[in-house]
Amino acid sequence: MAGAPDIAPRVLRWRRQFGRQGMPWQGTRDPYRVWLSEIMLQQTQVATVRDYYQRFLQRFPDLQALAAAPLDDVLALWSGLGYYSRARNLHRCAQAVVAEHGGAFPRHSEALAKLPGIGRSTAAAIAAFCFGERVAILDGNVKRVLGRALGFGADLSVAANERALWAQAQALVPAVGVEEYTQGLMDLGATVCHARQPECGRCPLAALCVARAQGRPEAYPVKTRRLKRGARAHALLWLAQAGRLWLVQRPSPGVWAGLWSLPEFESPEALQALCTGWPGHGEALPPLVHALTHFDWTLQPLRWQLPARMSAPRLQPITAALPAGEWVLVEQALQRGMPAPVRKLLLSR
Ligand code: ADE
Repeated sequence: MAGAPDIAPRVLRWRRQFGRQGMPWQGTRDPYRVWLSEIMLQQTQVATVRDYYQRFLQRFPDLQALAAAPLDDVLALWSGLGYYSRARNLHRCAQAVVAEHGGAFPRHSEALAKLPGIGRSTAAAIAAFCFGERVAILDGNVKRVLGRALGFGADLSVAANERALWAQAQALVPAVGVEEYTQGLMDLGATVCHARQPECGRCPLAALCVARAQGRPEAYPVKTRRLKRGARAHALLWLAQAGRLWLVQRPSPGVWAGLWSLPEFESPEALQALCTGWPGHGEALPPLVHALTHFDWTLQPLRWQLPARMSAPRLQPITAALPAGEWVLVEQALQRGMPAPVRKLLLSR
């Protein structure tokens, strides 16, 4: 049976024939572009990233443009991609590269990994793609590919085991063709070696894959400490008056930090108690359910329509009892960085 030394040649051959080609972020060694695509691709599908990536580059064609922009503009362009800490770190990272590295990304993975939002695997991907550094990546997809091929059965929740897999991954990196090998591993993880029902019939590593030989590819990688998901429920107030709504900027840190949204309350009852006695009328809208990394979040929106004609002194006590915010025309609110489910809600009427 073929063994671990055959992994790189097989991945390289497969990549030439079956890997993803013609992506907008391929064919460049510009670290700004590669970095941006790697951050976007971390938690988002290729098909979604394509448009966001192009729009982002139009607005921020280089690192200097991004570093000089207000964070709000960055968040607005990120709106809908989710995991907004990526956008905040992107902005901080651009500023750090300008302030600490004279505007040019460092050329080694170790230095790259010290920048905001760049973990070890992303640092390695940037260094491999842009500078040809012979360094291993090991993101979730690649842990699966290599974990299975090598039959790496130790629990990756244990740091020492994870380090051991990193060492094995590093030993497999070929001396020539690190860029294509790195991209090939990513493509293999994304398109063939799925978490569930891997398509071993199409896999170039099938002949040497230990997990496949055991007949249980899905048993790898081993991770005992899985994320325990929780659930939370809150209420949202859509306070409308004369074509405007009360818009608040979400606190940081926290979910959707820095994004513009509707004021949030502990529960529908707490919100109801606040609205009692207000002029106008309220209507409960269908709940938004949003899956976050650690919990499912249910947001129960209440739309409260105030009379179109209300004097400032009559409005003041109402907004004074709300989280700090401002009256914004709906069309203008939609221009700001806003959580995708909230945007959808506002567009639904
Ligand atoms: N996921 C992270 N980086 C990627 C890349 N360069 N290509 C495809 N998927 C990825």
